[in-house]
Amino acid sequence: MPTVRLVPLLQRDDAALAALCAALDHAPVQLDPDGIKPAEGSLVPAQKRRVLVCMGGPCVAAGAETLWGHLRNEQDRLKLRARGDGTMSAKTSCLGPCNLAPVIQVWPEGTYYAGLDEHDLDRVIAEHLLAGRPVNDLAYEATGAKQVLRPRRL
Ligand code: FES
Repeated sequence: MPTVRLVPLLQRDDAALAALCAALDHAPVQLDPDGIKPAEGSLVPAQKRRVLVCMGGPCVAAGAETLWGHLRNEQDRLKLRARGDGTMSAKTSCLGPCNLAPVIQVWPEGTYYAGLDEHDLDRVIAEHLLAGRPVNDLAYEATGAKQVLRPRRL
């Protein structure tokens, strides 16, 4: 009989495994608890922070790809995954306020940042991700109301 890899849930459920063996008219199978190893991709990250970078059309047109590349470079250079609460990042679809593009959102606070360039992102990294203080002059409060992009500093 060929080797069959069972789904992880079935590996932990003796009753389900016994029912499957009976349904297949197969002799009962004994599980080897030491043989159960988490599969690749089973790691639940320890990092508490997430930066979501919007990749919706208006954000990409406003420079989101550049922000994403800069964030990933700085994430490696500054070892953000291992510092403080740890930061991971992900691309996402539209976050909502497209007219304020490019938009990112930092969790667990859910802080929106908009109209960013790479210099602004450096501030978010230093002040919010590493020091835990949202950058209020770059942040847009989650009010549920329409907002306008604030003029850029010179
Ligand atoms: S496309 Fe980025 S917020 Fe909508």
